[in-house]
Amino acid sequence: MLINIKIASDAKKWLEEWLEPSYCGCEFGSGFSTIWLAQRVKQLVSVDHDKAWYGIVNDAMEQFDIKNVDLICEPSLILYHKAVDKYNKTFDFVFIDGYKSKRVECVNETYKKVRPNGILILDDSHKPYHSSIFKLLNDWERMDFKSPCKTGGYRYTSIWIKKDNTENGNT
Ligand SMILES: C[S@@+](CC[C@H](N)C(=O)[O-])C[C@H]1O[C@@H](n2cnc3c(N)ncnc32)[C@H](O)[C@@H]1O
Repeated sequence: MLINIKIASDAKKWLEEWLEPSYCGCEFGSGFSTIWLAQRVKQLVSVDHDKAWYGIVNDAMEQFDIKNVDLICEPSLILYHKAVDKYNKTFDFVFIDGYKSKRVECVNETYKKVRPNGILILDDSHKPYHSSIFKLLNDWERMDFKSPCKTGGYRYTSIWIKKDNTENGNT
């Protein structure tokens, strides 16, 4: 398994600089990114809906001696996006790269768990089915990273930074 996070290359560079070994995050859509992230942070919760894929990622974690990931398989699409609800804490980052038709729900469930100045990463953010995420996070700072597709045209990874309202004297 090739260890990489398959997002736009400038997004990857930005993320690599931003991540700290003390950070905790969660991702929807396990895979190469799970190992890549786990090697750079303290703790990762990773959720996937596909049992066979979960097994492959689990084996890869053993192969790479990764011990800081809670790998969750949630095949029920009613429960999938709620899989991190049980974590009663904030996350430094959330990475949305999983089951396509549940991505909006995944953001709805997790954006409040991002700490102030933490980030939400959305791969393939140019897809029209993501438009409500842009509306929901309208008041967060956003960066769009463009990358050429092999088939022509471009794809995007977007990263939102959650505003820290306490910096303005608000609580
Ligand atoms: C776009 S992939 C990305 C997963 C991960 N974030 C990464 O960067 O590797 C999204 C989904 O594809 C599904 N999948 C199933 N079989 C797969 C395979 N052979 N390779 C990659 N993804 C697979 C998984 O359920 C996974 O959640």
